[in-house]
Amino acid sequence: MTNFSKVVITKYVTLVKFLTASSHISSRKELSVQICWYHIVGVTMYVWASLHQHRCLVILANLRKSKSGKVVSLSHSVPFGDWFERVSCPHYFAELLIYVSMAITLGFHNLTWWCVVMYVLFNQALAAVLCHEFYQKNFSSYPKHRRAFIPFVF
Ligand SMILES: NC(=O)c1ccc[n+]([C@@H]2O[C@H](COP(=O)([O-])OP(=O)(O)OC[C@H]3O[C@@H](n4cnc5c(N)ncnc54)[C@H](OP(=O)(O)O)[C@@H]3O)[C@@H](O)[C@H]2O)c1
Repeated sequence: MTNFSKVVITKYVTLVKFLTASSHISSRKELSVQICWYHIVGVTMYVWASLHQHRCLVILANLRKSKSGKVVSLSHSVPFGDWFERVSCPHYFAELLIYVSMAITLGFHNLTWWCVVMYVLFNQALAAVLCHEFYQKNFSSYPKHRRAFIPFVF
């Protein structure tokens, strides 16, 4: 198992344990019999978003490396590939999806977690807009079709 897989699984299990401690699932017995469609959808979405976030962060890291893997620059350049073809900050979008996937896993009705999702939505959207404006201002050939944060929408 790679380090990335271990981090993703540990993060997910810790969050679910923490959240279910205060939700309607109160006993081990209940937890073991209540596997619903939204648990499967939430976990699948979590893994899918985490994978894309990892890929996008690797793309960003590689912008500063030579072919041999040595860091050769500290400047910012235009990333391409994976979800960067659609938005300027796909790692922020993936972060939002990760939090939404947790809300889905909890059965949509954990209000506290939806407040956390809203917090992540606004702070990542703001960061994405600033980053998008930076790219547009500094790179005249920056792809026009790219949105800032949410593909095709924003
Ligand atoms: N849940 C939350 O509330 C929350 C809050 C913050 C962050 N996060 C998550 O944490 C992760 C990292 O966030 P972050 O704000 O540190 O992301 P970031 O500002 O995009 O930076 C990520 C790394 O990539 C580098 N980088 C960014 N754009 C680059 C470019 N065009 N060319 C070369 N290198 C580039 C950055 O270097 P520089 O530092 O030199 O720019 C930094 O080392 C994201 O996935 C984000 O969603 C979550």
